[in-house]
Amino acid sequence: MQIYKEKQALSELIKTFKKEGYSIGFVPTMGALHQGHISLVKQALASCDRVVVSIFVNPTQFDNPKDLEKYPRTLEDDIFLLKNLDNNIIIFSPDPSEIYGKEVSRERFSFDGLEYEMEGKYRDGHFDGVGTVIKKLFEIVNPDKAFFGEKDFQQLQIIRKLAEKNNWNTKIIGCPIDRETNGLARSSRNERLSPEERQKAAFIYETLQQVKEDFGIKSVPEVTSRVKELFNGNPTLRLEYFEIASEATLKSIQEPVNGEKYRAFIAAYSGEIRLIDNIALN
Ligand code: PAJ
Repeated sequence: MQIYKEKQALSELIKTFKKEGYSIGFVPTMGALHQGHISLVKQALASCDRVVVSIFVNPTQFDNPKDLEKYPRTLEDDIFLLKNLDNNIIIFSPDPSEIYGKEVSRERFSFDGLEYEMEGKYRDGHFDGVGTVIKKLFEIVNPDKAFFGEKDFQQLQIIRKLAEKNNWNTKIIGCPIDRETNGLARSSRNERLSPEERQKAAFIYETLQQVKEDFGIKSVPEVTSRVKELFNGNPTLRLEYFEIASEATLKSIQEPVNGEKYRAFIAAYSGEIRLIDNIALN
């Protein structure tokens, strides 16, 4: 198992791989790895000669310093999980100063409006922080393919936009949402739910599946009010937003148009834990 903390050394390793004609797969993470992350790594291993997994809690994407402080850091366990999966995985786990130098700041981006929808309304500066770190990490790793989860669909589309605008050669691969047996989308935040809350949070995915059944039969406003009603009748979950939106623009719609692809998105709180999920509708 190779673990790199310095970008220079990792860049040199990648250069030697490229000279030998190996393709490089990259899975950026913030650690606290679970099976959702592992599903991305498996996909990378299946289609690339060498796989780099970064474990870096990126300070610039947190709008709340308390969240950054409380973010779980479980490097030893993460290494163990990856090592068991494949001993050839290369881990990059830099200190913040290695990525940001002395000044931790975020670049400002335009993602052609994708950044103002959904999560963008609730997490100020978040996507600028994600863009900043991905740009820096891609410069170091220079991957042929990079793997991102559909769990964070807005992030995936924003990274596609970033790659397109910068003419990067990296292929951005979207990976399906990995779920717990009750349907709850895997997330490091699920660990902070009580066993009962965790069971009850399956309601989010059940609702999304219902929406998928109703989509195209009922109108979007009808589906939306039904979802709001369902959440109003649920004592443990508080809905923050429900939207049916175009995959390409992430703009919410009132009426579907032929040929467009749509998804339904939910953000909801269980106690103080914020959970997000989405489902493809067509
Ligand atoms: P993190 O939350 O650690 O997630 C790393 C990657 O794992 C993301 O692409 C995310 O969408 C994916 N992922 C998480 N849970 C998943 C699940 N249940 N099924 C499928 N994929 C899942 O997202 C980030 O880190 C950061 O913003 C990052 C991109 C690393 C930039 O700092």
